[in-house]
Amino acid sequence: MSTAAIIPAAGLGLRLGGEAPKALREVGGESLLVHAIRGLRAATAADLACFVVAVPPGTEDDVRKLLDPYAGPVALLIVAGGAERTDSVRLALELVPEHGIDCVLVHDAARPFVPAEVIERVVAAVRAGAPAVIPVVPVTDTIKRVDAAGLVVDTPDRSTLVAVQTPQGFEPTLLRRAHNGDTAGATDDAMLCERLGVAVQTVEGSQDAFKVTRPRDLILAESILAERRT
Ligand code: C5P
Repeated sequence: MSTAAIIPAAGLGLRLGGEAPKALREVGGESLLVHAIRGLRAATAADLACFVVAVPPGTEDDVRKLLDPYAGPVALLIVAGGAERTDSVRLALELVPEHGIDCVLVHDAARPFVPAEVIERVVAAVRAGAPAVIPVVPVTDTIKRVDAAGLVVDTPDRSTLVAVQTPQGFEPTLLRRAHNGDTAGATDDAMLCERLGVAVQTVEGSQDAFKVTRPRDLILAESILAERRT
């Protein structure tokens, strides 16, 4: 049995600014997407069989040429993404083979430096029987819920809060069922499983698995890369 990795990379990255779609922005001379592919391949215990990458419509051929040298023996499938992240994941999921896959990872292209051990931890937990698995890290800020007028509603106990990363791992049938249900307002795939009443398992994530969102994140990404290259 093998793993399929869906990479939603169809976002325009408006908060990051710049001309190119976010996944094609470069760190250390290579795109975030290439770094993400390389990171997934480094997780050898995941037994990756295929990548399904959702890209901005119209960029399919260019992205295929860009990624081909990095996919190696792993099959590379490219699909035009949708309006929202969940649309992109659903469209990619349609290309995941029906047979021979026991784990589907969904991994944001915008998280280029996830350590291999985090990826392997997620896959191992799915293979051990957890139908939905997410990597998490503790939150360091105090988090408050606020209303539309900007008034604080309450302050959840910080020791019960975590920040969620990717790759998230799923038993394939569950992920298909989750995406056939109500996807409105979902900001990750685990949330769709929660809506089905499925227990979502957490595993330890990593600070290196942060998401490149704003321009300053590119500076952090450059410094992580420099550290890794020394
Ligand atoms: O915008 P955000 O940073 O939350 O996006 C997370 C990931 O989802 C990024 O890798 C982005 O390219 C992807 N995405 C997508 N399709 C969209 C919007 C975002 O594949 N319509």
